[in-house]
Amino acid sequence: MAEYEDTFEKVMELAKRRGFVWPSSEIYGSVAGFIDYGPLGAMLKRRIENIWRHFYVVQEGYYEIECPTVGIEPIYVASGHVGGFSDKMFQCPNCREYLRADHAAEALGIPHAGTMSKEELKEVLKGKECPACGKKMGDVEVFDFNLMFTTSIGPGGQRKGYLRPETAQGMFVDFGRLLRFYRDHLPFGAVQIGKSYRNEISPRQGMIRLREFTQAEAEIFVHPNEKDHPQFSRYANYAMPLCGIAQQEKDAPAIVKTMREAVDEGIIANEYVAYYVAMTHDILTTVGFNPDKIRFRQHMPDERAHYATDCWDAEAFSDRFGWVEIVGIADRTNYDLKAHSRVSGEKNTVFVQYSEPKKVHHKAIIPNFGKMGPVFRGKAKAVAEAMTTAEPAEDGIHLKLDGEEILVSPEMYTVKDEMVDVFGEDVMPHVIEPSYGIDRICYMVLEHAYAEDNADGEKRTVMRFKPGVAPIQVAVLPLMARDGLDTLAKKIVEELQDEGIQAEYDDAGAIGRRYRRQDEVGTPYCITVDYDSLENMTVTLRERDSMKQVRGRYEDFVNVIPRLIKGKVEFSENML
Ligand code: ATP
Ligand code: GLY
Repeated sequence: MAEYEDTFEKVMELAKRRGFVWPSSEIYGSVAGFIDYGPLGAMLKRRIENIWRHFYVVQEGYYEIECPTVGIEPIYVASGHVGGFSDKMFQCPNCREYLRADHAAEALGIPHAGTMSKEELKEVLKGKECPACGKKMGDVEVFDFNLMFTTSIGPGGQRKGYLRPETAQGMFVDFGRLLRFYRDHLPFGAVQIGKSYRNEISPRQGMIRLREFTQAEAEIFVHPNEKDHPQFSRYANYAMPLCGIAQQEKDAPAIVKTMREAVDEGIIANEYVAYYVAMTHDILTTVGFNPDKIRFRQHMPDERAHYATDCWDAEAFSDRFGWVEIVGIADRTNYDLKAHSRVSGEKNTVFVQYSEPKKVHHKAIIPNFGKMGPVFRGKAKAVAEAMTTAEPAEDGIHLKLDGEEILVSPEMYTVKDEMVDVFGEDVMPHVIEPSYGIDRICYMVLEHAYAEDNADGEKRTVMRFKPGVAPIQVAVLPLMARDGLDTLAKKIVEELQDEGIQAEYDDAGAIGRRYRRQDEVGTPYCITVDYDSLENMTVTLRERDSMKQVRGRYEDFVNVIPRLIKGKVEFSENML
């Protein structure tokens, strides 16, 4: 057997050989940062996305929308991506390779490289060995490289476009329509799962850093002064280790807190952020992350994105890459709605009614037409209208009407101070954003599921996927491919398919080898059809992890398997 350096190599070898993930456009030599999901990988990914949908769309009620991946220039001018979505880059003077400056500095053991300026990075990289060719570099120039892919829209490049660097902007641009869809009430949310594009400088980490990747993002629009989640009790007692800013400043380990404690003690900014921190933990463990290899780390103030006031990353541990950011959960305030309002002219506000009308002072300006008429003649009505919102000065009201400067002298109006009822106000919502990288989730699910153990005295490789994400859910194996065993096995496959189960028929080779094949792709259950099955319609159901087998009527198994896969029933002698 080949020797592999670490779990990453083992996982990627299995992933390629068994049809999970392939290098993209392999026959033309491939290019870094793009991957193909093979048949089992695409199925795994889809199942993970659907679990994510279950939480966000079904449980939270945030409907999914689908916007184009190509965006026109004003979107990304407004969002700040045209001006500032860049990484710091340098070129090795020896091998001419372009490299990300903060990553190169980190690889040299320099702490906090991600928050360093270009000048600081230039200083720390000077005279060091290039991470690509290993030769000593002299002075290097560090410069900004914008990560967005550009394109042109229409013949002759009439309009400039960008491939979206995040799905989020679609939800911000559609804010007005979403608000009407949700009947003008806060809070509400919308989600998108789709491709995002970043022209990463030197993507060398497989599925972790891609140039085309899938994001699943939720944008939750909330009242700026009401950041208590209405369903907070669901996760209030959910506890997990948190590396807050204070812990990181002291270089202290993460501390276990419930979400209630985290908010009350000011570790997490508000209930909304805490709720999605907990829900993210729930989602990651549901899809199969090892809970001992997940942590939540708060961004240090100098590390936060330009739009965020609080941000927590869900990080997962990989044997090869160490702690990797998988999900970012940010309070983006009203940064994006304000920016799009400024550039597009849309108000991007919600009229929020007060629980009781408020009485406020109001200065009413009452025109005296008897005095105004002779002076302003045909314009008197328009002047009177413009006066209603003006602020009187000592010498009268100064107005600009159709470009003409007008002074309305004090004898032409009276000012009446009155109390009026105000029923509500326009507010610009704040946005809470959990942003998930689906490819990183897929990789971690593969790495955390990978295991080697012994079966019948032989080493076996087994992907211990949660049944809910396993690409093939049941394999049906006739002991022999004859004597009617094959016919019964095919019938069982059809009945399982009718229940929506991904079932596969396999009659090739010895039964032990067939189990090994299914174990290697993480199939949680195998049904074996033998000669007794023909007599009494019983079969055995084998569980992948324990390798235990239970015998029962095949119809009972067809009934119980969907519940086993959903985790509603435990595999045991008594499950039928
Ligand atoms: P990193 O610091 O690793 O580059 P980021 O901070 O730029 O990540 P975000 O901008 O917060 O990432 O993006 C949200 C999520 O999208 C990330 O948590 C990650 O899971 C995913 N993501 C971002 N960039 C990539 C990429 N190049 N390839 C795969 N997934 C990515
Ligand atoms: N929407 C968050 C990000 O992609 O950066």
